[in-house]
Amino acid sequence: MWAFLNGEFISKDEVRISPFDRGFLFGDSIYEVIPSYNNKLFLFHEHFERLKNSLSIINIPIPDSINNLDLLIKELIKKNKFSNQAIYIQISRGVDPIRSHVADDATLPTVFMVSTELDINPYRENPQKKGLKLSLEQDIRWKRCDVKATTLLPNIIPFHDGDKSNVDEILFHDGQKINEGSKSNVFFVFEDLIVTPPKEQNILLGVTRNYFLNRLSEEGFNVSEKEVKVDDLSKADEIWVTSSTKELQPVYKVNDIVLPEKEYKEYYWYKALKILEEDLKSNS
Ligand code: PDD
Repeated sequence: MWAFLNGEFISKDEVRISPFDRGFLFGDSIYEVIPSYNNKLFLFHEHFERLKNSLSIINIPIPDSINNLDLLIKELIKKNKFSNQAIYIQISRGVDPIRSHVADDATLPTVFMVSTELDINPYRENPQKKGLKLSLEQDIRWKRCDVKATTLLPNIIPFHDGDKSNVDEILFHDGQKINEGSKSNVFFVFEDLIVTPPKEQNILLGVTRNYFLNRLSEEGFNVSEKEVKVDDLSKADEIWVTSSTKELQPVYKVNDIVLPEKEYKEYYWYKALKILEEDLKSNS
């Protein structure tokens, strides 16, 4: 397997980064995860725009090497051979030999990329598979979750706190307000209305979230960006999570609340996945 570091493709086992990299010392870095299917990137432009936006919010200059990021990724995909891949890109403020909160002006960003095989969403292959189990947690993250920062302690701690071996995803709430998952956005279905929390809440504007919002609305479904309360969970007919690697996956249970069951073809999530499947066929 191959990785990319600062302009060079290097074997994954040989790639090295200095411990003085500010990404390591301060978590001073941002990232993206982009899926590719049949060697073709999916929603690249949207990911690229968000990457540049994250860099600009935290004042990391856009490195020249990412001007042709799509070509670099295509090269990586070719080298790593799997037909479906998840491409991970991380950009830090760079290596600074003296640990200081204030970076030296001459610091050049570190650009790192690697890819892994992307498993096909199990719910596309077997729509009758049991849904995910979610655990509700108070959202203690910083207030700029629109930045795709690698500083992810609050997203990770709940998975390492006691026995979470059978929890698939954490659902963050701020008081009554449900925000998103630790690694995904969340959708709810109430009767025939599909709802996801609005961008004004403290969430990452997921590329997959935006894709499903647009496509479901284009296909005539009733979709809305609206606050959902913890108290509304027991009234939900369906809950889904979305992300670039998981696509869209249905939820079976949140804490002790079990979602209603029906014939799989009647679920809105199943219809949404069919739209994605069609779009992937024409993805070029
Ligand atoms: N996670 N919200 C959070 C907190 C996320 O970390 C992610 C993605 C999403 C979904 O965003 P998108 O649809 O653009 O992937 C929402 C990635 C996949 C990860 O951390 O690996």
